[in-house]
Amino acid sequence: MKITVGQAVRKESFWERKYELEDIWDAIESGSHILISAPRRVGKTSILYKILDEPKENYIPLYVDTESADSQSEFWEKLFNALSEEEFINKFESISKGYLEKLKKLRIKKVSVLGVAFADGETVDYKEAFKRLVKDLDEDKKIIIMIDEFAQTIENIIKYDNPQNAISLLLAHRELRQDAKIASKVTFIYAGSIGLESVVSKLGVTKHINDLNNIKVPPLSSEDAKAFTQS
Ligand SMILES: Nc1ncnc2c1ncn2[C@@H]1O[C@H](COP(=O)(O)OP(=O)(O)OP(=O)(O)O)[C@@H](O)[C@H]1O
Ligand SMILES: [Mg+2]
Repeated sequence: MKITVGQAVRKESFWERKYELEDIWDAIESGSHILISAPRRVGKTSILYKILDEPKENYIPLYVDTESADSQSEFWEKLFNALSEEEFINKFESISKGYLEKLKKLRIKKVSVLGVAFADGETVDYKEAFKRLVKDLDEDKKIIIMIDEFAQTIENIIKYDNPQNAISLLLAHRELRQDAKIASKVTFIYAGSIGLESVVSKLGVTKHINDLNNIKVPPLSSEDAKAFTQS
């Protein structure tokens, strides 16, 4: 087995995380949106990659790292770019053609502080743009949107933009999660090397994330680690 130091591990380097993955898939299947919390370097990103590489049937995962986003518009631009990527779209069999056509029509011209300007000239807010992009996705498949380093994005917005905009992003996500139509098509998973709960509690808006199913990931046990280094 290849030992990789530093980066998140993938494929054959991934040491099985049976219980954590079972917990996460149970939560996904029960319709929850998820917060994966764990100290640094415990293996959160590696778990997200595992979900990305080996999803259960009828789920289409999307991974996006938003660490470098310092504003709401940068955050949404990253998410919309990921949703429009060919690699993601190709995962849909039946609707890929229809969706591609739709995407062409829905071409995003610009993501700015004003919202999202579509090629047809209309500008709508980020939440509305997200709804448009996922509206036509296959009914039978559910997308798992995994947002890594979400708390870092929130912290960046507080620091480089302003706290009100950080709250506005948290609220937009909450509203999307509470939207029955969206929730039937999308599961959000948030993770990151800094704790979302502590960042959000500094803002005084813990209620904006209290609907999330919080799944804790423990460090690999010493037996696991030993078995891992010996395998
Ligand atoms: N399932 C695993 N199998 C093998 N090694 C692992 C596994 N999970 C984590 N590691 C080891 O731990 C390191 C950190 O993993 P990873 O980047 O996934 O953690 P993280 O919790 O996302 O870290 P950060 O808090 O920095 O974002 C990896 O470089 C790898 O050496
Ligand atoms: Mg990570």
